[in-house]
Parts: sequence; structure tokens; C-alpha cells
Amino acid sequence: QTQTGQAGGQSLTVATEPAFPPFESQGAGGELEGFDIDLMNAIGEAADLNIQFQSLPFDGIVPALQAGQVDAAISAMTITPERQQTVDFSRPYFKAGLAIAVRENNTDIQGFDDLKNRRIAVQIGTTGANQAKNLEGATISTFDSAPLALQELANGNVDAVINDAPVTLYAIESGNLQGLKVVGQLVTEEYYGIALPRNSPNLERVNQGLTEIKNNGTYAEIYQKWFGV
Ligand code: ARG
Repeated sequence: QTQTGQAGGQSLTVATEPAFPPFESQGAGGELEGFDIDLMNAIGEAADLNIQFQSLPFDGIVPALQAGQVDAAISAMTITPERQQTVDFSRPYFKAGLAIAVRENNTDIQGFDDLKNRRIAVQIGTTGANQAKNLEGATISTFDSAPLALQELANGNVDAVINDAPVTLYAIESGNLQGLKVVGQLVTEEYYGIALPRNSPNLERVNQGLTEIKNNGTYAEIYQKWFGV
């Protein structure tokens, strides 16, 4: 489904996988909401780009960019060297990292090394899924969305989930999922970027818009709205 932002100007189709609160999710009426959605609309206003969101499965986003089916993507997507081989990224807009979630009553798993030989759930195509591949003897279950992976953990069908820390913490703190906790250090430090097709003519405008909303306080307002205490 598509949804149009406020600004006029040239339109920019922006892909997102909207089951990743508080970055992107769907409200009761199906409308997109979240930090990334507000950020992208603000960039659109600053850069005079008319933002049209398009929901896609997460593992379909990079292929859609490569095929030129969308103009950009904002989806809490980590800037990785692997993805940089096929798409370009804006400058980083958010610092995150991967966290390990287990059930509250679990005392055996306290860090990444304890995940060997365990049952792990991850979202397909993510950096969390990539990290899980490094675990000797682990059984990996992949899900189309992070909430489904976390639900599998809550149901007791897997031992842990590797997922972006802000999203897992938000799911626990909002009470969306009961009986889970985060353990250990962050597995990685990661930076999110807006992805664009290789050599996109829009990269510079997106970066300029991002710089403008950082400088004029809009970024801070959006941050406060979704992450403020
Ligand atoms: N940051 C992680 C990655 O880039 C997970 C992003 C998942 N995003 C989403 N909207 N489901 O792989």
C-alpha cells in the first residue's frame, strides 16, 4: 500500500517493512507510523521530495532497489559492506546494535557464546540472521518479521532471538510481549542508513535533507517523540 507525505515536488517511492516498531509499523487504520516514517517525511519536506511509502518484505527491499522498482528505502536498515556492494546509503541517521533476547526464566544464556547449539529465531535477511549463521551447532528459524520471531521465543519454541536492540527493548517495554528479557552486551554496533539504488540522482538531496533536519531541530523532535522518556 502507498501513503503520501505532505511535501510537493518530485515524488520519491520509499520502501519499508512495517513490522519493526518503533521505527516503522502500521497503526489501527493501517497507516504507517514510526521514527523512520516521520524522519523520511521530514527529509521530504526539507528536500522538496514527495514521499510515497511502499511496504515490502524486508528481504525484498535490496532487490527492489537494484531493479529500480523503488527510489529509496527506510527500514531501520543497517549500513553493511555487503549491502554497499549493490546499493548506496545516505549518511548514518541512527546508531543501533543487535541484542540477545531470552525468556525471563532463562539463566543459561548470558551472551553470544552461550548461543552455540541453541535454537535461535531471527528475521530473514537481517544482520541478526547473519550473526546467527556464525553460531556453531545452532538451529536457526527464520521469520518474515521480527515480532513473529519474538513471539516464537515467548511461546517457548526457541531459546533466543537476535534482533535490533531498540526494537526488542521496545517490544518488551511496551508490553507487546510478556516474559522476555535482554541479556549480555550488544552483539554488534550498527548504523542505519537510507538505502538508494547505486548512483541514484537523489542521494545528495536525501543527505542534504537529513543534514537540514539535524541542524534545525526537527530530527531531535522526532527522536524525542519515539524514544524520549
Ligand atoms: N537493522 C537490521 C538490518 O538491517 C534489521 C532491520 C529490519 N527492518 C525492518 N523494518 N524489519 O538487517
